[in-house]
Amino acid sequence: MPRIKIHGMIDPHTHLRDLDWSHKATFESETKAAIAGGYWAVFDMPNTAPSTIDDARLTDKLARINMSAHCDWGLYFGASQTDNSAEYERIAARVCGLKMYNNSTTGDLFIDSSAMRERHYRAWTTNRLIAVHAEGETVANIIDLVRKYRQPTHFLHISSEFEINLLTEAKQDGLPITIGVCPHHLFLTEEDLPALGGYGRMKPELKRKTDQRALWRAIRQGVVDIIESDHAPHTRAEKEAEAPAFGAPGLETTLPLIMQAVKDSRLPLQRACDMLSLNVQRIWRITPLPKTYTVVDTDLSTIIEGRNLLTKCGWSPFEGMRVCGKVIEVWIRGHQVYDGENVLSAPGFGRNLFGFVA
Ligand code: NCD
Ligand code: ZN
Ligand code: ZN
Repeated sequence: MPRIKIHGMIDPHTHLRDLDWSHKATFESETKAAIAGGYWAVFDMPNTAPSTIDDARLTDKLARINMSAHCDWGLYFGASQTDNSAEYERIAARVCGLKMYNNSTTGDLFIDSSAMRERHYRAWTTNRLIAVHAEGETVANIIDLVRKYRQPTHFLHISSEFEINLLTEAKQDGLPITIGVCPHHLFLTEEDLPALGGYGRMKPELKRKTDQRALWRAIRQGVVDIIESDHAPHTRAEKEAEAPAFGAPGLETTLPLIMQAVKDSRLPLQRACDMLSLNVQRIWRITPLPKTYTVVDTDLSTIIEGRNLLTKCGWSPFEGMRVCGKVIEVWIRGHQVYDGENVLSAPGFGRNLFGFVA
């Protein structure tokens, strides 16, 4: 069966940049890339310049993305190290969740004290989830907070066997925890670093083969809930610098990489589709929209080439890899927005899936 239909693909972990970082990427360029990658909607992280940590900045970002987006979208609010929880009541209805950075990465949002982490957990009492960047031992610290406050928490870009083991146990205890993994941790390891140089640097860093095997095992066992791209474009100059910026683009390569894995019998087709659509909708409590789907030709084989991508950064850490599964149509709310070659929706077509704009 060469053609399949996936209903309502969502990437809940992207960095669309824009604002003061529009040299890296823009809401327009990256929502086009999202559509070409087969997505209905993308959720944007708050580590922009400036960071999305107060009502005024959120309101400004909402207005800008609302004018620019080609696909539907959501925005995260950022928990800050100086305690911005007084803002929560005003902003909660307009965002897809609260994002908390617990290890250092791109941007200046980093909370290293567990007392401050707890203040945010105590203050965030809405039914929207908390999405966390937590690596290694930090995962255990956040699990303790979930155990205490029972706030649904999504663990982003889980990359190691150690983390997977901790989270598997926490899930078995019945905690409201979900797990996302990224294609770069599933298809690349530290052994690729010599060839990739700065292009292979990201947070969490590429790991060992044993970690990668643990991620695939967790996918097969159903412990991993979703595949998220962690689409994080930086310019070539920023990646080739002595201290490379962390992150890599992924919106246009996630679906074909996963479809190749299906072809290679690494996971069943239904599991793959669920991890890109249904499970994301369930976790973020999104009602699927009618006539919103992606048609994929699972027989068409292609080679990933950065110069063919719509992301503004124009490169890929998966350069040269053979993948199958070409997106040939995308429909959103009954409108065709992609024909396999061109993005057909206008800037501003996209809507916020989480409440009103202003
Ligand atoms: C992300 C970025 O560049 O914004 N970088 C990364 O290496 N993944 C931030 C993040 O997701 O931690
Ligand atoms: Zn992160
Ligand atoms: Zn990220």
